[in-house]
Amino acid sequence: MSSPKRYMVTSALPYANGPLHIGHVAGALLPADIYVRYLKAAGEEVLYVCGSDEHGAAITLRAKKEGVSPQEIVDRYHNLMKETTAKFGINFDLYDRTSTPEHHKSAQDFFLTLLEKGAFEVKSEEQFYDEQEQQFLADRYITGTCPKCSHDKAYGDQCENCGSALSPTDLIDPRSVLSGSKPVLKKTELWYLPMGDHEDWLRDYIEKGELNGKHHHEVKEWKRHVIGQCKSWIDSGLQSRAMTRDLDWGVPVPVEGAEGKVLYVWLDAPIGYISATKRWAEENGQDWEPWWKDEDTHLVHFIGKDNIVFHCLIFPILLKAHGGYNLPYNVPANEFMNLEGEKISTSRNWAVWLHEYLEEFPGHEDELRYVLTSIMPEQKDSEFTWNDYRDRVNNELADILGNFINRAVVLTHKYYEGHVPAPNELTDTDRAVLDLIAQTPVKVGELVRGYRFREAQLEAMNLARAGNKYLTEEEPWKVAKTDPERVKTIMYVCLQVTANLPFVLHPFLPNTSAKIAQALHLDHLKLKDAGQNLLAPGTAIDKTPILFTKVDEEVVAKQVQKLEDAKKASVTRQVAEAAPNIEFEQFAGLDLRVAEIIEAERVPKTKKLLKLKVNTGLDERTVVSGIAEHYAPEDVVGKKVCLLINLAPRKIRGVESQGMILMAEDAEGKLIFMSPQGGGAPGDKIS
Ligand code: MF3
Ligand code: ZN
Repeated sequence: MSSPKRYMVTSALPYANGPLHIGHVAGALLPADIYVRYLKAAGEEVLYVCGSDEHGAAITLRAKKEGVSPQEIVDRYHNLMKETTAKFGINFDLYDRTSTPEHHKSAQDFFLTLLEKGAFEVKSEEQFYDEQEQQFLADRYITGTCPKCSHDKAYGDQCENCGSALSPTDLIDPRSVLSGSKPVLKKTELWYLPMGDHEDWLRDYIEKGELNGKHHHEVKEWKRHVIGQCKSWIDSGLQSRAMTRDLDWGVPVPVEGAEGKVLYVWLDAPIGYISATKRWAEENGQDWEPWWKDEDTHLVHFIGKDNIVFHCLIFPILLKAHGGYNLPYNVPANEFMNLEGEKISTSRNWAVWLHEYLEEFPGHEDELRYVLTSIMPEQKDSEFTWNDYRDRVNNELADILGNFINRAVVLTHKYYEGHVPAPNELTDTDRAVLDLIAQTPVKVGELVRGYRFREAQLEAMNLARAGNKYLTEEEPWKVAKTDPERVKTIMYVCLQVTANLPFVLHPFLPNTSAKIAQALHLDHLKLKDAGQNLLAPGTAIDKTPILFTKVDEEVVAKQVQKLEDAKKASVTRQVAEAAPNIEFEQFAGLDLRVAEIIEAERVPKTKKLLKLKVNTGLDERTVVSGIAEHYAPEDVVGKKVCLLINLAPRKIRGVESQGMILMAEDAEGKLIFMSPQGGGAPGDKIS
């Protein structure tokens, strides 16, 4: 492996729509922090940026729910996330945000370059425009008279009186909600990214680690699940994707005639990494470009698995089409971390919130880092439980690491007034421990550079484990009565282990490592000095503070209770919203079947509707479904769904819809398909 000149490292920008929880930490923040802390300690040149993703539907939905402006939401959560990550010791060089004018300009410039270079497929379409406000109107911003029931306050997407789905052009006497004026139809452009055009080189990039026919990165260093997900996307055919959205919250599309349109999240948030680099460079009197453009820089993105295709396919297409930029060298995505048997959920309040942990466990940041690293979902989903937290803190951090260091230091003070004794002749056992001191930094380094943080932490802890075992078995407190010279050797070996621990543990346990290094007066040393005997005989050492206290049963019970309470509150909310009972006959009247979507297209001039052709097993028929804001046509073809087939046909926007696809709506308002698990063929009855 050729070593790069510098590393540009990023963590996925968290949405500023809620506080951070342990899923964010274990997924994208902590692994990056460990990696960066290690590389910096090893003397590498590294820049690590992140920031708040302040655009997108998650933010506007939250704002709507609370009845406040999106800006109020993002200010609140940006500040909270910035504070909590700093307190938790995530060592960004800069934590930026995407609502700044600088980021808007940087994303807009990026878009314009892509436009100039012909990276998009441009289509045009007519859409309502408010001439007074000079902007295009999203469906909700148009009202008028319903063509079905004559209700005079129908919206451009729906009549709330009769429930009909509408398109703005259906309204009789349409009005702009913004100005009350009569909107006019105006031509507007749509920009699509033709991903299919990039299939060939993406395949080489993902499967062979090649770019432009040249070696780019080591494929074997990429995680299998990351490559697997990318391959399956490429294999199922890459479709064109719209690069803008009609929204009033986001980075405006910098083109005349595009008022009311914003850049799609993937032309916005990842550019945030670049904007953050520019700001850092400006604040530090440096040049930003080598970090993104120099061939000797390795670009590494830490993300959760839900962002894999965006970082491995879409962002690379954008970077390459723009020209001049490096493509990701690795994207070591993590899978998900669950909590006490369930998926973490912001809206259901099923989470361990980082800011609450910091308040309730002040000074115990390293304990959470340690546990989250121990169970980091590197290759598959994992699970956090408070019982496991207690066990790891008590049995590993307190009983092994803390106990060993405490005994080594206390005995040194007891026998030698705090001075390192000179050793006598070494036994094989002594030598084995000293050998481990030499091997550990090398092993830890290789594992960290290979993004295997769980094993790396385990190796570092194994040194403490070996030291603890050695001390327990050598029993210097007994030997002291018969052979004081031997005790000197034992304590010398224990102290060398102690002195090396802060160097190998530093990326994982930065606060603990600092306390040890300070007590042993090792602050001046660097990682490269580790792996040998660092304390010369005669050196004075201080007593270390208590490093870890045990977590007792009450603390665990309290945290579990808190989660139970959150669940109860969420169930109570849902019960209040539940529909009244129905008779069995009413249910039996529903003919529900498994069906497969075989074709999909947008219903023209609508934002919400997809026209789907489905195979019901009995026939092929057309169904109009209001899911277009959640799924692109290319996302749904081939999906098996649950279809109500005996719903009376009705015309929606001139298209006859013969049935209804059942969708779940999650607490965040996202629509999810009800698909059969493990089989199910079109026509199968659901009851
Ligand atoms: N905020 C988005 C998410 O959490 C995107 C993060 S990845 C980035 O899914 F590239 F956009 F930063
Ligand atoms: Zn109506």
